[in-house]
Amino acid sequence: MANLIDGKQVSAAVKEQVRLETEKLVQESGKRPGLAVVIVGNNPASRVYVNNKKKACETVGFQSFEYTLPEDTTQEELLELVQTLNSDSNVNGILVQLPVPPQIDDKAIINAISAEKDVDAFHPENVGRIMIGDYAFLPCTPAGVMELIDSTGVEISGKKCVVIGRSNIVGKPMAMLLLHRSGTVTICHSRTQDLASVTREADILVAAVGKANFVTADMVKDGAVVIDVGMNRLENGKLCGDVDFAQVEPKASWITPVPGGVGPMTIAMLMKNTLTAFKQQNQLA
Ligand code: GUN
Repeated sequence: MANLIDGKQVSAAVKEQVRLETEKLVQESGKRPGLAVVIVGNNPASRVYVNNKKKACETVGFQSFEYTLPEDTTQEELLELVQTLNSDSNVNGILVQLPVPPQIDDKAIINAISAEKDVDAFHPENVGRIMIGDYAFLPCTPAGVMELIDSTGVEISGKKCVVIGRSNIVGKPMAMLLLHRSGTVTICHSRTQDLASVTREADILVAAVGKANFVTADMVKDGAVVIDVGMNRLENGKLCGDVDFAQVEPKASWITPVPGGVGPMTIAMLMKNTLTAFKQQNQLA
C-alpha cells in the first residue's frame, strides 16, 4: 500500500504562505500583486483553468485582470494587448492561456511577454536560466512536482529519476529540476526502446505522457515514488491520469492521485511566481 501524496493539502500550504507574505508586503509597500490572464476563444478546459486561476488570486489576495478575447483575434491584436500589459505597473505577471487558436503563433506571443512578467517561465530567457540553475521563476507544473516530492521527505540526491515525456512545458524542465537536485535523470519518450526496462529502474518516476493509464504495474519498481502529471478526460467524462492507479498503487511507496495530486499544485506555484515577480519589480525581494 502506497502513501498518498495529497496535492490539495500541499497546494493549500503553498497558497497560505503566499497569502501571508502578500498581506505583509501590501502593508509595507501599499501595492498589491497583480496577475493578468488572457484567454483567446472558448476552449472549455482553458475556461476552467482560467476560472481556477482567478479564484486562487482571490484566495491569496492578488488583483486579477482577466481578458477574454474572441476566437478570431489576430496575432497583432494579441501582441498589442501583451505590450499594454508589459507596460502596466499594476500587472506583475502575464499568462496567456495555451493553446491559442491556429492563426496565432504561440512562440511569438511567449517571446513578446516581458521576461520579468513571464510567470509561466516559458520565455526563452527564463528557459535558459533554468538550464543554468539561475532562475527567478520555475515553470509551474514541474515546480509543483518538486514540492510534492519534497513533501514525502524522500531524498532526491543520487536517486534514479525517470521522466516519461519530453515537452517544453513539463518533461524537459522537470528533468532539469531533478538534475539540479542531484538526481540521476533519464528522459523517456515515444521513441524510447523497451520503455518498461528503463522505468523499472526508477526510484522516482514522473509520468507526463498524456495517455490514460499508460504506466502499468510492470513498469514500476517496488517502493518507487510515482508522480502522475497526466490529466486525461475519458469518454465517460471522468478525469484520469497517465498512471494506472489501481495497478501501480500497491507497488509504490508514494503516489499522487488524479485528480487531487499535481493539478492543484500548478496554480499554487503560479501564485508563488507572481509574488516573486511583484517583489522583483518593486525591489521588495
Ligand atoms: N495551458 C495548459 N497549461 C498551461 C500553463 O501552465 N500555462 C499556460 N499559459 N497555458 C496552459
